[in-house]
Amino acid sequence: MQTRVLTGITTTGTPHLGNYVGAIRPAVEASRRDDVDAFYFMADYHALIKSDDAARIERSRLEIAATWLAAGLDPARVTFYRQSDIPEIPELTWFLTCVASKGMLNRAHAYKAAVDRNTEAGEDADAGITAGLYMYPVLMAADILAFDAHKVPVGRDQIQHIEMARDLGQRFNHIHGREFFVLPEALIEEQVATLPGLDGRKMSKSYDNTIPLFAGGKKQLRETIMRIVTDSRLPGEPKDPDNSSLFTIFRAFAGDIETAAFRQALLDGLGWGEAKQVLYERIESDVAPMRERYEAFMADPAAIEVILQQGAQKARAIATPKIKALREVLGLRSATSAATTTAQPKPVPKQGKMPRFASFRDTDGNFRFRLFSADGEELLLSMPFADPKAAGALQKRLKALGAAAAVLQVQSSGMALMLDGEPVASTPDQRDESTRNDALAQLHEALDQLAAQE
Ligand code: TRP
Repeated sequence: MQTRVLTGITTTGTPHLGNYVGAIRPAVEASRRDDVDAFYFMADYHALIKSDDAARIERSRLEIAATWLAAGLDPARVTFYRQSDIPEIPELTWFLTCVASKGMLNRAHAYKAAVDRNTEAGEDADAGITAGLYMYPVLMAADILAFDAHKVPVGRDQIQHIEMARDLGQRFNHIHGREFFVLPEALIEEQVATLPGLDGRKMSKSYDNTIPLFAGGKKQLRETIMRIVTDSRLPGEPKDPDNSSLFTIFRAFAGDIETAAFRQALLDGLGWGEAKQVLYERIESDVAPMRERYEAFMADPAAIEVILQQGAQKARAIATPKIKALREVLGLRSATSAATTTAQPKPVPKQGKMPRFASFRDTDGNFRFRLFSADGEELLLSMPFADPKAAGALQKRLKALGAAAAVLQVQSSGMALMLDGEPVASTPDQRDESTRNDALAQLHEALDQLAAQE
């Protein structure tokens, strides 16, 4: 079985080397494993809690998406999306809010720290604290529980949030008497390096000691590396690699042999200026090919948008039915579905007004079918099946699927409908975006009509 690994990246900053080594690189590596089903998303609703600078949030969303893609994230393999494209997340946030104990939220570290600062300053305890900050852990729990994530890779400062997500999931399960949610676990990667910044403290935006990953190009990278603080030992004097952030950063990019050689060079008295040049070249050789891809993405936001929309569709294929089930247990069903349980006959759809399937046999003997809209427009052509029963089973699944669960992948011509990660049918050719959007809308309508009839 695959482990579902999910993590969010708050979109307020510009990625730096510390983010790359500590989060992006290990996450991309994990996403390539066959036993991992990775969900990575941009936590732009969380960003609103920290910043009201719209331009900055917008820029950061784009930069972070481009960075992850440039770093090798394969959007066909992972589910990569923006939190704000998933309306089920704020909906679930409210459901969880209604089981969250206020006392638990009072104890959240970030909120408590803000209260302590106020109290120390002699202010009202809640001065300047938004309800957004207070609710931060519930929104984060919804991010995780909406997708039944098993493991959540985070920094140590986030462990409490994962515990709260477990608590909220457990409460909900308990109150409603079923295992609605998987209870997530924090994944703390011990061997992943925390990179020191220019001044030797942890590299962090809040210390203003970061080395940018792509911003400013290689010139900026080199200039910033030259500003790493060292001791005052002169060239020729032996250096202490174990107390040098320069060495720690080098080690995060180099293999064992290179690292041993660099250590020896420092012990042998390599000057700090030269050492910085060696470090720059080592990092640049990893970063240069990624930077090229990054710049290509940044120059083509439309390509990023397509990828993120597809990601949102994949994510919603899971979240939509989940929230629908929750609405039912919470008593939020539609009045008509409540009525049908008291034995109302289903309305019979008018003949001839429904989308329909047409099966046929290929020249090579395989079984296929087409789906036509209510107006007789061709929407889908299925893959060929040797066994007519398999074609029939697929029709049956498509009837029950509904638009919200349909995952479509844009291809060079037309789109492929995906089920369980496999293409099962394709749309007729659409070369430009507007015909593609029309086709998508028609297909969605037809799938919803079929599902409503089921
Ligand atoms: N709070 C996380 C951070 O600041 C970001 C985040 C938001 C997140 N939602 C999440 C991380 C869900 C993991 C899972 O680092």
